[in-house]
Amino acid sequence: MENNSAIAQAHPNIAFIKYWGNTDSTLRIPANGSISMNLASLHTTTRVTKAPHLENDQLILNGEEKTGKELKRVQLFLDQIRKRYHKVEYLKIKSENNFPISTGIASSASAFAALASAAAMVYNLKLSEPELSSLARLGSGSACRSIPSGFCEWKAGQGHNESYAFSFAPKDHWNLWDCIAVIENKAKKVSSTSGHSFAQSSPLQNTRIADTPRRLEICKTAIIKKDFGKLANIIELDSNLMHAVMMTCDPPVMYWQPGSISIMRKVREMRQSGINAAFTLDAGANVHIICPEDSHRKVIETLKKLSGIQEIITSPVGGGTKNL
Ligand code: PMV
Repeated sequence: MENNSAIAQAHPNIAFIKYWGNTDSTLRIPANGSISMNLASLHTTTRVTKAPHLENDQLILNGEEKTGKELKRVQLFLDQIRKRYHKVEYLKIKSENNFPISTGIASSASAFAALASAAAMVYNLKLSEPELSSLARLGSGSACRSIPSGFCEWKAGQGHNESYAFSFAPKDHWNLWDCIAVIENKAKKVSSTSGHSFAQSSPLQNTRIADTPRRLEICKTAIIKKDFGKLANIIELDSNLMHAVMMTCDPPVMYWQPGSISIMRKVREMRQSGINAAFTLDAGANVHIICPEDSHRKVIETLKKLSGIQEIITSPVGGGTKNL
């Protein structure tokens, strides 16, 4: 029997090896594979209700009805689901985040993972985890990595069914933390969706892509062996490579702010002084500082002494998307 409404909750994820650029932008098939961990303390909770009386989908995001490009993106995503699975009913979507959105904290990842999962339930689709991951990818590439639990890899794949994420280590495998130094909590100027479309214009993108299998291997092995030194070097290299591509695109995109650079320098200093910490930045100015449990207090203390940080959000490794 089909339900009239369904609720799902998903965590955002932070990428250690980044996805940047698509080979198919409609299906969001990435130009390279990626690795991430889910963030337990942050979540999006989404309720969808079938709305036969409505003439289109309706979106209420953090208590506010959306009519512009946010609604359009959700409608396009739901249209793809309806087309694939021969469904017709429009949905009313109520979605809440417990963290700032569109600032490089991957809110679209948890948003589309939760929406895919809730929509699959309300439409009674009975999908496997890989199928759900592929479906979430259609809304936001990185959302496919928020479906499975813990530490996840997304293999680029060749088509829709081949391009999904899976967990290669459970969330309790390694007690890593993400301490996010929020220096900007306004929406970023260039969305990652448009950023991906510029990626190929950088003369550095092909080199970054060609070297990705090597970085994926080093990162995955470092996680499996819990080798923080190796993990730190590879995630900083990978973040810098992605930002180098962003800065050398046509048009160039510079997500870093002066404050981002100060924090990156501080993280390097911390490491030199024996504190295990490494930085990575998504498509935004905020700096994610990855560290093991035993150094996360020291990392927070050090960050608190820096100026220009509005908030420090901390999270251990999280599970996958669940239906509530
Ligand atoms: O899923 P999107 O389209 O928001 O792209 C995410 C891109 C990065 O966050 C910068 C990198 C990643 O792999 O998450």
